[in-house]
Amino acid sequence: MANSQNRGIEVLQDPVLNKSTAFTEAEKQKLGLIGLVPDVTETEDLQLRRVLLQLAQKNTDLERYIYLESLLDHNETLFYRTIMSDPARFLPIVYDPTIGEACLKFGHMYRQPRGMYLSITRRGKVKDILKNWPQRDVRFICVTDGGRILGLGDLGANGMGIPIGKLQLYTACAGVPPQCLLPMYLDAGTNNEQYLHDPLYLGMRKPRPSTKELYSFVDEFVEAVQQVFPKCCIHFEDWTGADAVHLLQRYRDKYCVYNDDVQGTASIVLAGMINAAKIKGTRLSDEKYLFLGAGSAGIGLADLICSAMVKEGLPLKQAQARVYMFDINGLLQDARKDLFDFQKQYAHKHVPTRDFVAAIESIKPTTIIGVSTVGGAFNQKVVESMSRINERPVIFALSNPTDRAECTAEQAYTWSRGRAIYAAGIQFPPVRLDGRTFLPGQANNFYVFPAIGMAIFATQATRVTDEMFMEAAHAVADQVPSELLKQGLLFPLQSNILESEIQTAARVAKLVFNSGLARVKPPSDTVSFIRRHVYKPEYVSATVPKNKAA
Ligand code: NAI
Repeated sequence: MANSQNRGIEVLQDPVLNKSTAFTEAEKQKLGLIGLVPDVTETEDLQLRRVLLQLAQKNTDLERYIYLESLLDHNETLFYRTIMSDPARFLPIVYDPTIGEACLKFGHMYRQPRGMYLSITRRGKVKDILKNWPQRDVRFICVTDGGRILGLGDLGANGMGIPIGKLQLYTACAGVPPQCLLPMYLDAGTNNEQYLHDPLYLGMRKPRPSTKELYSFVDEFVEAVQQVFPKCCIHFEDWTGADAVHLLQRYRDKYCVYNDDVQGTASIVLAGMINAAKIKGTRLSDEKYLFLGAGSAGIGLADLICSAMVKEGLPLKQAQARVYMFDINGLLQDARKDLFDFQKQYAHKHVPTRDFVAAIESIKPTTIIGVSTVGGAFNQKVVESMSRINERPVIFALSNPTDRAECTAEQAYTWSRGRAIYAAGIQFPPVRLDGRTFLPGQANNFYVFPAIGMAIFATQATRVTDEMFMEAAHAVADQVPSELLKQGLLFPLQSNILESEIQTAARVAKLVFNSGLARVKPPSDTVSFIRRHVYKPEYVSATVPKNKAA
């Protein structure tokens, strides 16, 4: 890790210090690098040109992903310079949808350690193990147990690709400094038979333990983090639905934690719904919602929509009455005996049905939301039924990766004859239909969690609240200009994502200060305050003292 005493080859092997071909003559002299690098001094732009050239020679996004990750292994600044130079192009490579394939092959592609691996067999020693991490001021740990990776199920240790990728987005999208981020895999085994028998699998070869055992391990981890990294926020990611909701309930009032699948998804989808309502000229509380999928993403969103309707003046019970859910066993209704505690408020009086189209015909929702992991579940009959009932059916097909999307953008626009207001979890290309161009939105959490992260980082917030996610949703929604709304775009353009997230982070930070949750003094101008904390992918001079460097 970065050490200003390093010289010679050690500097080149340190991804934080390494500038590769960009060291100046004075730096080469000072650091003992003469002869160890080509005798040139290139600019970062020229280095970027070489990276882009090499990327263009790769045939698949997975190869580009591998190339970029190895670039990060030897030159962190150039890696972030590359992905921040064109986020719309690179986010799908370092994250969704390429990350799904990268996780499936994680054990086979493994090259370098990144982040920490903590096995349940180490119980009792978690605090000491955390101290092995070389950075002391860790501000975010993104942690998974690999229980439900994207829509791909239990991937065990192969799920480590997710915390690694998620934390890169904190930096790439919102400028959170990479040095304070720690990806973490809690290994409690896996029930994935294929991996249990794969000689190259990198996790424990044991079936998953009981929930009680798992939670006692997570308890030890969460408490150890408070002691070793006292300013750290724990971001839970890609646990199974029940664990995601239960662990969030367990820690949210005691520690600085959040679950992005539950709260981040809810926030970005709420942003989409706020803008869908703007297009339709309605309010959230005028709409009726039917979910396909009642897991962590579905429940988090249902709860946040209800809070938003309550904010509009509807009593909570009436808000909940406008939300219906449908899962693998059919419509959630009050006679079902298999529901989790957190699903029961959405189980209304209704005849049992396992037929989603029949549920649409009977409930008459204005909005359907796919968080089921079932690709193609919004088939032609579903979209046509929604289009019969609604002038502007709102159709959100949010499951990831690409083949799990409940319907594609083209299907939604074609089957609704151009009337659908549509968003997906991944980015579909624009659709041309009857001489019009539709811009499908990507309801991806990366508009929200990096900005929330930046707000927490800058304010040193002590808790993460639902109000912060609601504020983020409004901030994201407000940044879509009306001319783009008319073309169906529900979210800001990705090309400008850093600026968009700075604005969102500033609004969330303001709320953190007003709620008394900050550990630093409130600034007079929150936007400039956030800007001051933004990481820039620029080399630091090794010859000019830090405070005098440009
Ligand atoms: P989960 O495993 O907690 O829940 C899945 C839900 O779908 C369960 O209620 C299950 O009963 C239901 N389901 C499964 N098969 C079904 C079927 N055939 N018919 C009806 N319902 C069915 O998963 P979670 O965390 O809720 O995620 C769901 C999906 O949402 C994943 O694909 C995930 O990648 C995606 N997601 C997308 C995000 C985004 O930003 N767009 C963010 C978070 C999740």
